[in-house]
Amino acid sequence: MATDFDVYERELWAGRAPAYERGFARLTDHIAGPLLDAAGVGAGTRVLDVGTGPGVVSARAAGRGAEVSAMDADPLMAETAARNVPGLDARVAILPDVPFADGSFDAVAGNFVINHVGDPGAALTALRRVLRPAGRLALTCWVMPGVGALAVVRDALDEAGVPWPDDIPPAPFLEHGERAAFGRLVAAAGYSAVEVEDVLWEHAVDPDEWWETCALGGVGSNGVVVGRQDEPTLARVKAAYDGIVARFVRPDGKVSLPAHALLARATR
Ligand SMILES: C[S@@+](CC[C@H](N)C(=O)[O-])C[C@H]1O[C@@H](n2cnc3c(N)ncnc32)[C@H](O)[C@@H]1O
Repeated sequence: MATDFDVYERELWAGRAPAYERGFARLTDHIAGPLLDAAGVGAGTRVLDVGTGPGVVSARAAGRGAEVSAMDADPLMAETAARNVPGLDARVAILPDVPFADGSFDAVAGNFVINHVGDPGAALTALRRVLRPAGRLALTCWVMPGVGALAVVRDALDEAGVPWPDDIPPAPFLEHGERAAFGRLVAAAGYSAVEVEDVLWEHAVDPDEWWETCALGGVGSNGVVVGRQDEPTLARVKAAYDGIVARFVRPDGKVSLPAHALLARATR
């Protein structure tokens, strides 16, 4: 059953695919390789990329010669993934609904989707159903509170004195965004051999492009809050942002933003 958080999420992503693809997807692409390694994806692996977004993981899996299927709750995301990965079976479906038969996949990979679902436990159970016996699951989430790439817009809002709105619901996954808790959540859904590791990297990006695609592009809750500000407030937030990202600047003018995620792997 859709929770209030699920309803919020549908609005959050609606129409955001183009901005997400030009900005955030380049950050999440860094971990797509390790995610597919954790899921044991190679040539011929039948893999489901759940919460595919613009097809970041699907593209990498197809590049390995895997047989890839994908799903996303947002129709424009699924359409974008299908455009980016020729021949991809990209379906529109909202976890915990998984429109595939029992045991259809050797592997399920989800890059930063579990932190966006209203009922993470139910989603994990549903994904286990479509794995064959001994099939592998790999999922990523952000470590909270986010750092660097995840934090610069939120920090700018705080520094500019913008209060966090009461109507933005906290993600039910939040309490699991830590190694041991994430592992317990996956194990509680019936998986075995559960392991969770930290993955850290740096994302080099033009700071104005990051502002444009993530903040002005309305991506994530930070983008939603930025989109609600009037011009003078927006100017204050941007000035704060410029000061914050200056700490990460490189000689070529780009900024090198740290990122910290958790990668969980498990067996059905
Ligand atoms: C942060 S994006 C990650 C996209 C992509 N996996 C990547 O690596 O960049 C989260 C994606 O999950 C999708 N999503 C959120 N809730 C979902 C749900 N309940 N079921 C399926 N997809 C969902 C969103 O529409 C969005 O495309």
